[in-house]
Amino acid sequence: MLKLGIIGWRGMVGQVLMERMTHESDFSHFETHFFSTSQKGEKNPFTIANSNPILQDAYDIETVKKMDIILTCQGGDYTKKVHSELRASGFIGYWIDAASTLRMEDKATIILDPINKNGIQSALKNNQLDFVGGNCTVSLMMLALGGLFKSDSIEWITSMTYQAASGAGARHMNELLGQMKFVTDRVIKPGIDQSSDILQVEKTVKNLLSDPQFPKDHFGHPIAFNLLPWIDSELPNGQSKEEWKAAAEANKILQSKTFIPIDGTCVRVSAMRCHSQALTIKLKKDIPLNEIESMISEHNPWVELVANNKESSLKKLTPEYASGSLKIPVGRIRKMNLGPTYLNAFTVGDQLLWGAAEPLRRMLHIILEK
Ligand code: HSE
Repeated sequence: MLKLGIIGWRGMVGQVLMERMTHESDFSHFETHFFSTSQKGEKNPFTIANSNPILQDAYDIETVKKMDIILTCQGGDYTKKVHSELRASGFIGYWIDAASTLRMEDKATIILDPINKNGIQSALKNNQLDFVGGNCTVSLMMLALGGLFKSDSIEWITSMTYQAASGAGARHMNELLGQMKFVTDRVIKPGIDQSSDILQVEKTVKNLLSDPQFPKDHFGHPIAFNLLPWIDSELPNGQSKEEWKAAAEANKILQSKTFIPIDGTCVRVSAMRCHSQALTIKLKKDIPLNEIESMISEHNPWVELVANNKESSLKKLTPEYASGSLKIPVGRIRKMNLGPTYLNAFTVGDQLLWGAAEPLRRMLHIILEK
């Protein structure tokens, strides 16, 4: 049995990963060792067959090195600290990572197997050892449009995103709730008739968002009753790093011979864990809408084509609908007034599942199939 070392199982992505691996009986294929950066020597809290009952030291290179596969959701700082030292020590096992640190390295393969299983398998054949989950927004967009990428129908895309608080982290999700509570506790009171006083209530809400006590340690700004049109760091060309990732990662995943331009504006909104994206897709040629819909819906089992009408869109094309599931609803599909090669689409996906944990656990099976 291959020895699997799991690091970062306590964090939010780690918890989602543990839940999925347990649900899919993934642990039955491995001898599992849980590592910790702070609790080595303590009891492993899981009741998982073939697992080491004691937590191992995630910083002890000699112990980590004994694994055949390392799967880490511990974050970029851990990867920076440990990965090169581990490789330098002679570790020739697989490194599966959720962090972006190694993603664009030549030696690393971005894993999104419904799109690039062949690429992953060739990387394994070529003895590549580093496999990294993609940026959540990129992975969700690619799963939604897999059929159009596969048929080489896309000339370029603009993606306008509506990204959930979870993409920033667990503390940010809590802060979003805290911000909502801070405001609603102060404006929804017996005796205030919101319907007649709504302009006054709105002024109060606006003032509360700049109140010195308003909780914003993590976001730095109000996200409740607001949105934030910048995610990640600034690049010299005016893009945010999150916006840059779309084309860079998508083309790496596709191993594109001809680069597909993808650009847009990434925006944080007050959804909890589902990212949404409004897409303008420039097709290489005029393709009938029914063919486009077939290509999209037949590409993979997770895509759910949502009819382009008001009722279906409001019911199924929302973070509320996709949250906690592997479904990738894709809808608002129509030719735009700009011309017959301009396609409109909207898609939603759970950024902790397909956007983070799911490609990692599926990589374990691709290694087993090797
Ligand atoms: N960078 C993403 C976000 C999450 O901020 O929403 C991780 O891929």
